[in-house]
Amino acid sequence: MTDTNLKIRRVAGALGAEISGVDLSQDLSDETVAAIRAAFVEHQVIFFRDQQLTPAQQVRLGARFGPLNIHPYVSGMAGHPEVMEIIKEPQDRVNFGGGWHSDMSFLERPAIGSILYAVEIPGFGGDTLFASQAADYEALSPGLKATLEGLNAVHSANREYSAAGQSAQKRSSMSVVEAEGVAGEFIHPVVLTHPETGRKALYVNPAFTIRFEGWSTRESKPLLDFLFQHCRYEGFTCRFQWASGSVAFWDNRSVWHFALNDYPGQRRHMRRVTVDPWPQPAKAARLSEAAA
Ligand code: SIN
Repeated sequence: MTDTNLKIRRVAGALGAEISGVDLSQDLSDETVAAIRAAFVEHQVIFFRDQQLTPAQQVRLGARFGPLNIHPYVSGMAGHPEVMEIIKEPQDRVNFGGGWHSDMSFLERPAIGSILYAVEIPGFGGDTLFASQAADYEALSPGLKATLEGLNAVHSANREYSAAGQSAQKRSSMSVVEAEGVAGEFIHPVVLTHPETGRKALYVNPAFTIRFEGWSTRESKPLLDFLFQHCRYEGFTCRFQWASGSVAFWDNRSVWHFALNDYPGQRRHMRRVTVDPWPQPAKAARLSEAAA
């Protein structure tokens, strides 16, 4: 399926493409949504410039790609609980997302993607880095790939969203509920096969992955540390410099991201909607489809 109005320009070797020729505030045609989704899964993170999105328009846009997540620990906007306002005020020291991570890997069914819209950008700094976990997986030796294929990892929000965690540290304009003891632990494969492309990617991250399933934390640490170092290799990253009205849409199944905190004394204001996977069809329905 093609949409002749979309122009796609790659921005780096491993991931990232900038798309022009679409107004995301509009009620997009099915053809345009399909073209954007194809670019999203192919390039892993896509960028748009000069958009103007109200919170309701951002919700409508996100909902074309899947059900929208309501964050369990960060309060959403009044009237738009699916919209998370990511704000750092001039007096704040800690930013949100200021470490490599994939969004929501601490849930049983993690988000497939996040759509971030820039409302107000500092005069300098505040870029976001992205790293392709598919390219990082492909660069491993056959031996380590084979070992990792057999492993699952345990993810939890407890560390990041507990009282001591970075996300729970007070920012004047964001309300974060501490997760101590309530977050639970969820298990995901260390090598995730992308359900839309079949491409494999590493699915562990320093913010939320705490150990390998069946291994102790102490046993897990050396291999996790190796992977966390490997997965931030600069050659498989891209960097997005925001302007007000910019949008980034990244694939959480194969991309890490990192919000740089290099704009002291300035305000940065973003809005994010986070796209969950479509609900799985009931088993009975799948069986009857197969029989038909
Ligand atoms: C996030 O982790 O979703 C925040 C990214 C950013 O603010 O650049």
